[in-house]
Amino acid sequence: MKILVTGGAGYIGSHTCVELLEEGYEVVIVDNLYNASEKAVERIREITGKTLTFYRADIRDYEAMNGIFAKEKPDTVIHFAGLKAVGESVDKPLEYYENNIAGTLCLCRAMRENGCKNIIFSSSATVYGDPAVIPITEECPKGVCTNPYGWTKHMLEQILTDLHTADASWNVILLRYFNPIGAHKSGMIGEDPKGIPNNLLPYVAQVAIGKLPCIGVFGNDYDTPDGTGVRDYIHVVDLAKGHVKAINKIKENPGIKIYNLGTGIGYSVLDVIKAFSKACKKELPYEIKERRAGDIAVCYADAALAKEELGWEAQYGIQEMCEDSWRWQSQNPNGYEG
Ligand code: NAD
Ligand code: WQD
Repeated sequence: MKILVTGGAGYIGSHTCVELLEEGYEVVIVDNLYNASEKAVERIREITGKTLTFYRADIRDYEAMNGIFAKEKPDTVIHFAGLKAVGESVDKPLEYYENNIAGTLCLCRAMRENGCKNIIFSSSATVYGDPAVIPITEECPKGVCTNPYGWTKHMLEQILTDLHTADASWNVILLRYFNPIGAHKSGMIGEDPKGIPNNLLPYVAQVAIGKLPCIGVFGNDYDTPDGTGVRDYIHVVDLAKGHVKAINKIKENPGIKIYNLGTGIGYSVLDVIKAFSKACKKELPYEIKERRAGDIAVCYADAALAKEELGWEAQYGIQEMCEDSWRWQSQNPNGYEG
C-alpha cells in the first residue's frame, strides 16, 4: 500500500513517515520545504534503512500535484502540509487561508482527478476553542477560534466533511492533535523551529541548550492547580503511530471519522519545566510573565474513542517526552543546519 504524505519533511510528518516505513508501507513525500529541510528526508531513510520517494512541490501547484498522483497512484493521503504559527497567522491571514485552505482544495482536486479518495487530515484541538467540557470528547462542540490558523483547521474540517457528504466514496479521518512534543528515540529527527520558538517545548529546549536565557511563563493566575496553563502533551512518536492506526481504519471505508489524539493527561507549564530540568540535569531559569492573548486555562483530551475504534493509545509519559526532546536538541543544537 502506498501512502502520499504532504508535509512529510516536517516535524510530525517525518516521524509518521518513519512509522509507516517500519510498518511496510511505501511512502511518497510531497513538501515544498517552506518549514523543513531535505536533511529530514535523508534521516528518515537512515533511521529506517528503507527507500522513499521525495518530491519538492507545493500542494497549491495543481499541475505538479496532478502529475505526482498520476505517476505514483497512492492509496491514501496523509495531509500534514500547512502553515502552523498561531501568532503569525494573526498578522498574515491571507497567507494562512491561501496556503492551508486553497492548498487543501487543490490537493483534493488532484486526488479526485486521479481516483484517490482517502484522506487523513491533521486537525487540532484548537477547533474546540475554549472547550465546553474537560476532558474534551469528540462530541464537544467546535468553538470560536482565536486566530486564523485555528479557523483554517475549523473550516478544513467542514470542507472535508462536505466532500464526503457529496460523494460517499470519500473516506475522511480528521485527527485532532493535542500538544505534540518529543522526538524520535534516535535523536536524528525532531522539531526544528525557525527563529525564536512560539511553543513551550522548543523554547524550554533552547533555554536548556543555552541559546535563550530564560523561560517566560505566560500567566500563573489561571484556575489550575499551580496557576499555569494545563495542556495534553503527547509524544510525537505516539502521534505518528496514531496515523498508522488511522490507515488501518480507512481501509474499512469508514466514511467520515473524527478522533482526538492525546494522552488524556494534563500537565502545567511548571510541570513541564520540572520534567525537562530533570531530563537535562540542570535547573532551568524561568520568570512569570503576563498571560498570552488567546490562551485558554486547560485543554486535555478524552482519548477513549481512538482507543476503542483505532486500538490506539499513547505509550509515553511526560518524562520520556522531555528526555527525547532533550536528546534531539543536544545532538542537534542548531537543528538540521547544525
Ligand atoms: P511543520 O511545519 O513541521 O510541517 C508542515 C510541513 O508542511 C513543513 O514541512 C512545510 O514545509 C510543509 N508545507 C507547508 N506548506 C506547504 C505547501 N503549500 N506545499 C507543500 N508543503 C508545504 O508542522 P508540524 O508541527 O509537523 O505540523 C503538521 C500538521 O499538523 C500541520 O497541518 C499542523 O497545522 C498540524 N498540527 C500541528 C500541531 C503542533 O503543535 N505541531 C498541533 C495540531 C495540528
Ligand atoms: C503551551 C502552554 C502557554 C510558550 C499551540 C496551538 C495549538 C496547537 C498546539 C497547532 C500554554 C505556555 C508557551 C512559552 C509559556 N498547534 N507557554 N511560555 O498554545 O497550547 O497550542 O500548539 O494546531 O493550535 O495554539 O501550545 O506550546 O504554545 O503553549 O508559558 O514561551 O505553555 O501559555 O499554557 P498551545 P504552546
